[in-house]
Order: sequence, then structure tokens, then C-alpha cells
Amino acid sequence: MSQEQFSTLLLGWYDQNAREMPWRWSPQDITRGIKPDPYKVWLSEVMLQQTMVKVVIPYYLKFVNRWPDIYSLAHADLDDILKEWAGLGYYSRARNLHSCAKKIVDCYGGSFPNTDKELRSLPGIGTYIASAIRAIAFCQPATVIDGNIERVITRLFAIQSPQAQAKKLIRKQAEKLTPTTRPGDYAQALMDLGATLCRPRSPLCFKCPLRLCCQAFQKGVQDEIPQPRKRNHIPTRSGTMLVVLNQNNCLLVERRPEGGLLGGTMGWPGYGWEPNKDKQSLPIENPVAIPGHVQHTFSHFQAQIKVQIGQIDVEYCLSDGYKLIPLDAFDPQSMPTLMRKVYEHVQSYWSQNSLAKK
Ligand code: ADE
Repeated sequence: MSQEQFSTLLLGWYDQNAREMPWRWSPQDITRGIKPDPYKVWLSEVMLQQTMVKVVIPYYLKFVNRWPDIYSLAHADLDDILKEWAGLGYYSRARNLHSCAKKIVDCYGGSFPNTDKELRSLPGIGTYIASAIRAIAFCQPATVIDGNIERVITRLFAIQSPQAQAKKLIRKQAEKLTPTTRPGDYAQALMDLGATLCRPRSPLCFKCPLRLCCQAFQKGVQDEIPQPRKRNHIPTRSGTMLVVLNQNNCLLVERRPEGGLLGGTMGWPGYGWEPNKDKQSLPIENPVAIPGHVQHTFSHFQAQIKVQIGQIDVEYCLSDGYKLIPLDAFDPQSMPTLMRKVYEHVQSYWSQNSLAKK
């Protein structure tokens, strides 16, 4: 089957089955010549890079509502961006988002560049996002390969080589298939096919428009490839977090150092769970260790956190990096998920022990 026949088949399927997403322009819009907004394409792709579509949708909507274009995002306060990002994870993405927006305004007059080299020189933009922007926003025949597309290509060519070699083969075959017409729709069609039919397990081959040219299907090995990746065992790190109030009913929170884990976000002071950090506690009055612990999985370790509550003298709270937030103005939604889970643990203790604070 020629490249043209292949993309015609796939795009025909996409015209009928494209998933609607708030950052997408429909195949009908694209065929009518409507040009997608590079800002929205970029923002959505940054959010989608490590996170599932259904999780991203409400965040994307909040962002475009609050910062509808590159200028508003470039002029936003990083703190506000981090707060809106809270819960999406991988916080370096949010910091890069802000640096990238500023660079596009300062160096490119607010218009996204459209070459691979320029795009990849921007903070947070690597091979994947550069190709997605070029294909979707600028209608260039760039080869986009995300996890879903990788699986589709692996099955189409029944690629069974070891991972490093497989990656090269996948790229080579994907490049050969990339069309010059509707490259953005084509990339998103492969994503949708991978997400809805060519699923990791139990692919729905009987509904797939590509089954007649799919080597895995022809050989009956679609369930065996790609082989699931062996999950590496990740270590557990145990420690303690402190949720303390001062005499004026203000919670003590700290800003986490830039560049590190959850960098730049607000969190609970604590110790023991982060390597290379002083195991220093705070002088808490009437400390209570809450029974049980909070668990949260990061990409490279599992955090197991004991939580202590108590009071603290106001003097202590004025040193570097700490901030006091009145309990009735505190919004746990502005914190990363681990910190939010810790606060929920405390709230549940307060309510069980009739110590409701809020
Ligand atoms: N995952 C990453 N980018 C996507 C897109 N544009 N549509 C659907 N899923 C995606």
C-alpha cells in the first residue's frame, strides 16, 4: 500500500471518528482552511505530554480562560501559573511554560517560530512537541511520535526488535508514512486510533481501518506486540510533614526550592523523605502524630509520609521561605497532589476528633 493510500484510509476514518477536544480544530474546520492557534496547540501538547487527556481538559480550559494568549501568559505571575498547574504534576513543565512564553514574546514578537531548530531551542520544547506544533499548527509534514503512535506503528510493521533498535525502526517507518496533506489531522488520527482501537491490551482490530495493511493483525500477533514494558521497581522514601498553626490560626507553609522536586510550589515543611535535605524539624508545641500515613507515587520513588500537627510560635514563621496563610483563606487546591493529600489526612483527623478547624 502506498503512503498516499495509507493516509487516505486513516484520514477517512478520522473524518468520521475524530475525538472532540477543546484544543482541537475538527477535520471539517481544517478542510475549510481554518488555521489552528499555535498557542493553544503548544499549551495542550505541553500538558498532554505526561498526562492523560481526561485529566488535562479542565486544566487546559482554566488556563485558556485565564491566559487566552501568549502575551497574557508571558506577563502572568509564575506563582499563579504554578497554582493553576497544581495537581497536574511534573512542575518543571509549568516553569518552562512561563519561560517559553516570555521568550516567544521577547525574541519572536509573540509569534511562534515554525522551524524544528527554533522550536527546540525554546524551554520545554523537545522533539515531540516541536513536531506536534509544526504538524498541527503549521501544517508541515513533521513526523509526530507519541506513545500511542509508537504502538500503532509497532503493530503495523510487527516490530519485535529490542527497544533501542525498535525506536529507530519506528521512526524510520513513521517518517515514510507521514503525508504532506493534512499532517496535523494525520498525527491526531494516529493518536486517536491508538487510544480508541489500537489499545495496549485487547485491540479492536475488527473495527480498525488499517487491519488489512497491519502486519501484526495479518500474523495474528497483535496481542503480543508491543510487549509490555517491565516496570522498574521504585524505592520508598519515608518521612514526616508538619501541618502546624500559629497563635493566630495561620498555617505554616514553605516554598520549595526552584529546580528540585515540586520546585517553586508551596508545601508543608518536613524532613526525612528527601535526600540531601537537612533532617531538621521545627519546635512544635503539643505535637500529635496522626495515625496512619499518606502515600504518593512519583515517577522515581514512592513517598510514605507520616503527618504531625501542632502549634508553632509566630517568630519561627518569619524566616526565609516560610509563609503564613490564614486557615480560612487556605486553598489546598493550589498545592501539588502530595501536599493536598497530606492536608486531607489532617482534615479527616480533625473531623474524627471533633477538632474541626474549617
Ligand atoms: N496526546 C498528545 N497530543 C494529543 C492530541 N493533540 N490529541 C489527543 N491526544 C494527544
